[in-house]
Amino acid sequence: MHLLNTFVVRTLPLVPQRIVRYFAGRYIAGEILDDAIRCVRQINKEGACATLDVLGEDVIREEEAMKSRERSIEVLRAITRERIDSNLSIKLTSLGLKLSKELCTHNTREILKAAAEENIFVRFDMEDSSCTTDTIDIFRTLHKEFSNCGIVLQAYLYRTEHDARALMAEGMKNFRLCKGIYKEPASIAYQKRDEVQRNFLKVLRVMFEGKAYVGIATHDSVLVDGAKAMVEEFGLRKNEYEFQMLLGVCPELRKALVNEGHKVRLYVPFGESWYAYSMRRFKENPEIAGYVARAVFMRNK
Ligand code: FDA
Repeated sequence: MHLLNTFVVRTLPLVPQRIVRYFAGRYIAGEILDDAIRCVRQINKEGACATLDVLGEDVIREEEAMKSRERSIEVLRAITRERIDSNLSIKLTSLGLKLSKELCTHNTREILKAAAEENIFVRFDMEDSSCTTDTIDIFRTLHKEFSNCGIVLQAYLYRTEHDARALMAEGMKNFRLCKGIYKEPASIAYQKRDEVQRNFLKVLRVMFEGKAYVGIATHDSVLVDGAKAMVEEFGLRKNEYEFQMLLGVCPELRKALVNEGHKVRLYVPFGESWYAYSMRRFKENPEIAGYVARAVFMRNK
């Protein structure tokens, strides 16, 4: 990354929120549900489907966790009412994972119950490694009651191949596979880009061999090409896998995949708690750091 960009990324927390919000606009659908519905409608028109995420993580009070649960249930009702092609993604720390596993399991169960009523699929996002075991445990428990759910596994973790095999052996065969976004130590995670890429493709193969349905979540052309080759090798039909991308990232790649006839799903986050999510996106994108720097300088002129 360019030195100036590295500097700006490190100092992003000091940038006024007004400016951060402006640049966050490309990564989030808006702050209210109507914004998100409008965004998904547009995505559907462009031939892709979506997964909606109510922004928010690491809640510290029980009332916040319950509010978060109610918001997700509102999204489920809206998906049916508005007839948009979307499912739901949830983060367990926004449902109280760090407060109590029981509370989080209860809140997640309520969401899955509502999702089952609406016949909508729910994806458990994966957060940093302090949450991995608990997220998988809760997923395991609730999958016994509800089949309309799947989980995310991160290719940068050494444990992921084992997790994938163990879950598949128990009949849980719907995954989103991504590289992983959080900063993790070398004791538990691959650090180098090529190591993560290699493990991504290795785990994808394990999943396909296990006849899992995989949401291949990446914008990395090496992985997209590798996945396409594997799809062909396994003779998969278009309804036996999908590509997944983030709103605002690589729209050209998304269009190309849609045009080639692949199913593509966009991750569409929305809500008032846009800050932490946007900061993670900025850190991935060296160019955006440059834009933010320019905006700060222009403001001071
Ligand atoms: P990489 O980071 O190498 O990016 C490849 C190319 O994409 C870059 O060269 C650049 O051109 C472009 N790009 C990537 N990020 C960009 C950005 N922010 N802005 C502009 N361009 C960008 N992680 C996690 O830990 N838990 C989860 O639950 C999820 N869920 C999830 C869902 C979906 C649908 C996606 C696509 C991703 C996630 N992730 C995630 C994030 C994932 O782990 C990873 O951090 C990002 O997808 C970036 O990795 P890539 O595979 O795209 O490669």
